Amino acid sequence: MGSAGVPLLLLVGALSRIPGSEGGREPPAHFLCQAKLDCHFLNGTQRVRYLKRFFYDRQEIDRFDSDLGEFVSITPLGQADYWNTRQDMLQVARAEVNRFCRYNYEAAKTGLVIGW
Ligand SMILES: *[C@@H]1O[C@H](CO)[C@@H](O)[C@H](O)[C@H]1NC(C)=O
Repeated sequence: MGSAGVPLLLLVGALSRIPGSEGGREPPAHFLCQAKLDCHFLNGTQRVRYLKRFFYDRQEIDRFDSDLGEFVSITPLGQADYWNTRQDMLQVARAEVNRFCRYNYEAAKTGLVIGW
């Protein structure tokens, strides 16, 4: 009781920094980038954990975790050290637990597609 999570999913076509694109190496012609926005409603809107997760070819490489308030690398491909220097990215991500998760709670709990 009290830990029903409602995962919300958003797929995007591009990340601004692609692993493997540094150092002059050409990125592969065919690859998959995904960002998934998870809202875990742990006690209605009282306790919400927001995860902004970045995947490269189905492998999660970085995430923002609202419990920590910063980005964390999941694999050596991750670039959390870089993202955590970006105050603009941190500020946006920190606001999304309210702007995205709590804002969409009423729709999300009925399974409706959410807005922004
Ligand atoms: C859940 O939130 C309610 C307020 O909406 C609070 O009264 C209650 O103590 C919270 N429960 C837990 C387990 O934190």
